[in-house]
Amino acid sequence: MKILVTGGAGFVGSSLAMEFRKCFPKAKVVVFDNLRRRGAELNLNRFKRSEIEFVHGDIRCSEDLTGLGDKFDFFIDASASSSVHDGQDGHLSYLVQTNLLGTMNCLEFARRYCGGFVFLSSSRVYSIPELLKIPLQESKGRFEIDTDKELPHGLSGSGINETFSTAEFRSLYGATKLASELLIEEYVHSFGLNAIIDRCSVIAGPGQWGTSEQGVFTLWVANHFFQKSLSYTGFGGFGKQVRDLLHPSDLFALILQQLDSVDRYRGKLYNVGGGMENSTSLKELTEICKKVTGNSVQIDPIPNTTKVDIPFFVSDSAQVRSDFSWKPERTVFQIVEDIWTWLKHERETVKDIFL
Ligand SMILES: NC(=O)c1ccc[n+]([C@@H]2O[C@H](COP(=O)([O-])OP(=O)(O)OC[C@H]3O[C@@H](n4cnc5c(N)ncnc54)[C@H](O)[C@@H]3O)[C@@H](O)[C@H]2O)c1
Repeated sequence: MKILVTGGAGFVGSSLAMEFRKCFPKAKVVVFDNLRRRGAELNLNRFKRSEIEFVHGDIRCSEDLTGLGDKFDFFIDASASSSVHDGQDGHLSYLVQTNLLGTMNCLEFARRYCGGFVFLSSSRVYSIPELLKIPLQESKGRFEIDTDKELPHGLSGSGINETFSTAEFRSLYGATKLASELLIEEYVHSFGLNAIIDRCSVIAGPGQWGTSEQGVFTLWVANHFFQKSLSYTGFGGFGKQVRDLLHPSDLFALILQQLDSVDRYRGKLYNVGGGMENSTSLKELTEICKKVTGNSVQIDPIPNTTKVDIPFFVSDSAQVRSDFSWKPERTVFQIVEDIWTWLKHERETVKDIFL
């Protein structure tokens, strides 16, 4: 078996590549990455030790992909300019060339040389104005859906499903993901591409070089571990914004099932996330981090909200749970513990990034 993971030196890609290696010791696992993300280069030794082939390449360049000179049973595209803030400073070129034109290069490669294709999309495809209309009430630790009020289409007490509006603006990053989804849909129908789209909400776990721009939940644990200050940004600065968290190993368990039946489910798109039971606010996360790391850190309020901030997103993954009899196994607490264990074991390596 041959598996290709683009963006494979990033957080999710490297976690998936390592899981593939564990699960299929004899498979050829190829990781393709341009190492743009700081910290990605630190995975290269791990790949060498695990006999994962690393190819330095850029999805913006179709020849880099065809230069792989091989066919693959499965192709997971985890490469991206991955922050919702990307392009907001007016510099869109890298974002669009990677997340949109790069997707097209991946699709061209996939339809010629690959059996099955999984695209990691994002819950950021959903409309920000619609998300801001979700009726919320404030409890001591978090925002919650006010289920007594009329809820917009696609929202229930279980969270946001695939039918929620994508109609209005959704961030430049989200737009590149939504446009990629549309392209994939056309490749499925025009060329019979065996592709599945996973609209992931927050993925967090060991190996993530979290920053305040992307991977803030891992950053939260890291700053508790290294005793560095943090800030609650937006929505008054109280840390009540809520997200659901998914561990990359749980994502892998799903992708394995999806690849196994990719021809049956081709063209389908799914919300994939930890769900309401694995959701947390930053304020609640602080308490978990204190328990797990034994440390308290200063957290300053920054009340101002940016244009792409949303107070609440929890994925309703009922569709994917029913098609694949899958559910996430790791709780928020376990995810935090897992990140903490990684930081402890890899302290000398990770400190250069987090300190
Ligand atoms: N982490 C999350 O919470 C989350 C949530 C939803 C969706 N996703 C999606 O999952 C995928 C993986 O995200 P991640 O968290 O691992 O991000 P990441 O930034 O850690 O990994 C992305 C990788 O892509 C590589 N890359 C960037 N531009 C490239 C290019 N032009 N050519 C080749 N490689 C390139 C980077 O070097 C990096 O290693 C992305 O598509 C992201 O949009 C992530």
